[in-house]
Amino acid sequence: MIKPILFSVCLTVIAFSSCKKSSSNNVTPVCDGSTPTYDANVETIISGRCIGCHGSGSSNGDMSNYVKISNYTANGKFEKEVLKNQSMPTSGPLSESELNMLGRK
Ligand code: HEC
Repeated sequence: MIKPILFSVCLTVIAFSSCKKSSSNNVTPVCDGSTPTYDANVETIISGRCIGCHGSGSSNGDMSNYVKISNYTANGKFEKEVLKNQSMPTSGPLSESELNMLGRK
């Protein structure tokens, strides 16, 4: 009876250690093995934390949909403000898991 338990403990340890944040420049994997998508993951973060100031037509930068946000991911400003400097959102940086979801390097 003890053996299966030990085995599953080992598997758990392996599963978690393979998910450690690497110190190299690779994107940190999302630890549940899924691939984040805009609709399933990113949209929730944007509408919860950004849309109040970055809604449609906003002069701060319109981030109301995928195409609009793509302008900021393409010119590097999204990465700079949100992932590197973490100056956005203004109320404080996103959580670790949110940052990883967005592909922090
Ligand atoms: C409380 C209001 C507020 C919230 C919430 C907020 N922002 Fe901003 N954001 C601003 C303002 C104001 C500016 C313009 C600042 C400036 O130009 O100096 C800005 C600028 C930016 C810029 C740079 C745009 C440019 O053209 O230079 C990016 C990228 C950005 N925000 C992303 C985000 C993201 C992503 C979130 C959510 C995770 C977020 N912001 C949440 C107010 C906010």
